[in-house]
Amino acid sequence: MTDDSGPTASPSCDGEAVLSLRDATLRFGERTLWSHLDLDVRAGEFVAILGANGSGKSSLLKAILGQVALSSGTATFLGRPIARGNRRIGYVPQQKLADEGVPLRAQDLVALGVDGHRFGFPLPNRQRRQAVDALIRQVHAQPYRRRPLSLLSGGEQQRLRVAQALAGEPRLLLCDEPLLSLDLAYQATISELVDTSRRANPLGVLFVTHDINPVLSMVDRVLYLAGGQIRVGTPDEVLRSDVLSELYGSRVDVIRTHGRIVVVGTPDDTHPHAGHDHTATGSPAEQRR
Ligand SMILES: Nc1ncnc2c1ncn2[C@@H]1O[C@H](COP(=O)(O)OP(=O)(O)OP(=O)(O)O)[C@@H](O)[C@H]1O
Ligand SMILES: [Mg+2]
Repeated sequence: MTDDSGPTASPSCDGEAVLSLRDATLRFGERTLWSHLDLDVRAGEFVAILGANGSGKSSLLKAILGQVALSSGTATFLGRPIARGNRRIGYVPQQKLADEGVPLRAQDLVALGVDGHRFGFPLPNRQRRQAVDALIRQVHAQPYRRRPLSLLSGGEQQRLRVAQALAGEPRLLLCDEPLLSLDLAYQATISELVDTSRRANPLGVLFVTHDINPVLSMVDRVLYLAGGQIRVGTPDEVLRSDVLSELYGSRVDVIRTHGRIVVVGTPDDTHPHAGHDHTATGSPAEQRR
């Protein structure tokens, strides 16, 4: 492991830990995705999760949600062992477009987040309607709030899914590549919404991204996965040529230019659709659109 600053350290947040992982390991069959992860995420803290395709980022979020079991170690949320279906954990899953024929309108998806398990009841009442309206406004979804989900673009759906995840007033927000499909302006809108929410509530944020640049100014710590190994620390501690070269076991260069971070030479960025080159033009999120 990993967390050079110790599992309890956090540079800008001294609130309680909402999430604690201790010596956590995840294996699928013979394959170890990552091991010996110690991590505390505090209320108000923004942690970016970086790493190549298949390094286990989504699986880490699913372990925190209780959807996959840790192979060893422990995970606690608000001091209790992780349980499936916790309403205080907001989740934006890795993008999956709504199936055609799903009879939901845009605003229904957000209302589901507010109502949660009450789906099917004749809601919303005035308070719930106000909560839904505020979230729809925050993601600029007013123009399409009554349209069927299946007719919305990928980016329009993505904005709603972030609104839905925030609707349950979570203490922890897990975002799996939430900027995918968004143009640069909406990348900023969504990043700022998450940033404002985590400070106001406050809530801990785990934010998986292939391009750290849109959120670089917000990130307190980075969790970097590569080849089964993990590094945790501030962006300055982790996004360094020596640290990433050691993590990958080969030469990797981290270049800072015009306030952006470019990672060059990771074994996985030889493939045009893989890797996590934090460049202005070449992020896999943009390539995969
Ligand atoms: N339930 C499962 N059983 C077996 N293998 C799995 C399971 N879930 C995921 N995997 C494998 O674990 C690896 C990590 O998957 P994961 O989705 O966590 O990667 P990721 O880091 O999110 O990648 P990407 O950047 O492509 O989203 C993959 O090789 C995947 O095929
Ligand atoms: Mg993933």
